[in-house]
Amino acid sequence: MKIAVVGTGYVGLVTGVVFADLGNEALCVDIDAAKVDAINKGQSPIYEPGLDDLLQRNLEEGRLRATTDLAHAVRESEVVFICVGTPPTDTGEPDLKYVDAVAAEIGRALNGYKIVVNKSTVPVGTGDRVRRIIEQHRTEPHEFDVVSNPEFLREGSAIHDTLNPDRIVIGADNPRAAMKIVELYAPLERPMLITNLATAEIIKYASNTFLALKISYINAIADLCERTGADVVQVAKAMGYDQRIGHAFLQAGLGFGGSCFPKDVQAFAHTVQRYQLDPTLFQTILDINHARAGQFVAQIRNRLGELQGKTVGLLGLAFKPNTDDIREARALEIIRLLLDAGATVKAYDPVAMPRVQSLFPQVHYCRNAYEVAENADALALITEWNEFRQLNFERIRQTMRQPNLFDGRNLYDPQRMRKLGFYYYGVGRAADPSEFKTVL
Ligand SMILES: NC(=O)c1ccc[n+]([C@@H]2O[C@H](COP(=O)([O-])OP(=O)(O)OC[C@H]3O[C@@H](n4cnc5c(N)ncnc54)[C@H](O)[C@@H]3O)[C@@H](O)[C@H]2O)c1
Repeated sequence: MKIAVVGTGYVGLVTGVVFADLGNEALCVDIDAAKVDAINKGQSPIYEPGLDDLLQRNLEEGRLRATTDLAHAVRESEVVFICVGTPPTDTGEPDLKYVDAVAAEIGRALNGYKIVVNKSTVPVGTGDRVRRIIEQHRTEPHEFDVVSNPEFLREGSAIHDTLNPDRIVIGADNPRAAMKIVELYAPLERPMLITNLATAEIIKYASNTFLALKISYINAIADLCERTGADVVQVAKAMGYDQRIGHAFLQAGLGFGGSCFPKDVQAFAHTVQRYQLDPTLFQTILDINHARAGQFVAQIRNRLGELQGKTVGLLGLAFKPNTDDIREARALEIIRLLLDAGATVKAYDPVAMPRVQSLFPQVHYCRNAYEVAENADALALITEWNEFRQLNFERIRQTMRQPNLFDGRNLYDPQRMRKLGFYYYGVGRAADPSEFKTVL
């Protein structure tokens, strides 16, 4: 099938590359000429494990090409995927200007029946809005259908997730359009749910909000554990064995960041409000999450006292491991709070440093975790990259000015760290359970 994929970010490029690999002809479109040039040279503009190889193979075999010419891509294709960003506006509502602009251009370029598939995360009703915009801009009465096909991939495992989705949601008001998209996905042999546009649009937000809810929920429990001598890691483990609950997204820590959860929960809160419903549940998820960075820095302050003249080393900056994405990364807020308090900040991340460097040039960027630890008064784990799992903590302790370890992701064994001579703080894990008395 000939497809156009508009927007070559995390969702668009991965979608284009995977569909090309399944034997389709994919034209990937972006307004950013530098991204288009890089893609045509086989260089992915984003870091995503496995993407470069897949991109190069499909370019070489002639199934994928990138272009800035959206009209040409639309004219050449049967199916057009919209994968542009929907960032939050100042009020937290999703900004649909990129989706609108693409819809208008698709309308002007229509030269026959097309299926326009929206993969961007958009509020319920956007499919109808896209339909109206295309109708307003088409110059001839060519038919088209709009489909909602929300994307659930996770950055860091985007290729794997796109090839092995838990489910494929296809929302269409016309069964003919839905069946065409079913055909496109059929080789993946994954469960497909065919529904109407509004349902598909809500499924995406309801899913992301629920995952964010689990994270904020366990973080609220972590705060109670910290005050009572309980260990949230064990609480979450025991909860997770209950099949009705599950282990996923039940890790206490610094909370969620990234380009999706914060903006999607906020957007959903706005949507329910627009329909005169109570957004308190969704707002609480955000409030709990927002407090995490401040609480973590407060722990560092409690231990070190005045941060002026102190050095804090950060391990990891990306919003999660295996990505260079720093949008809404917890590290950014933590760096800001530490710098405001007068601390010297050192940091290392395997791939995200260049992006953070442009925002915080005053941070000392290091070549590895050991360099971060040198002369630091505290070492804080922010992103649980695999390479931080098995560090030589004996060596780290010897080079630190003070052996204070703040584990923002509960990656390390508290007992082992204390045995090695560290003061260890883990989120929701009491410093010494024997010091606590429960209040009844
Ligand atoms: N990143 C994720 O993990 C993820 C997962 C699921 C869903 N989503 C959703 O998918 C959408 C895209 O997310 P992303 O992370 O890939 O965004 P991104 O910012 O990485 O990429 C968007 C791309 O669209 C391009 N673009 C903007 N306007 C354009 C236009 N008029 N024509 C052509 N290209 C244009 C931009 O230049 C950019 O390259 C968002 O709605 C997001 O919420 C993202």
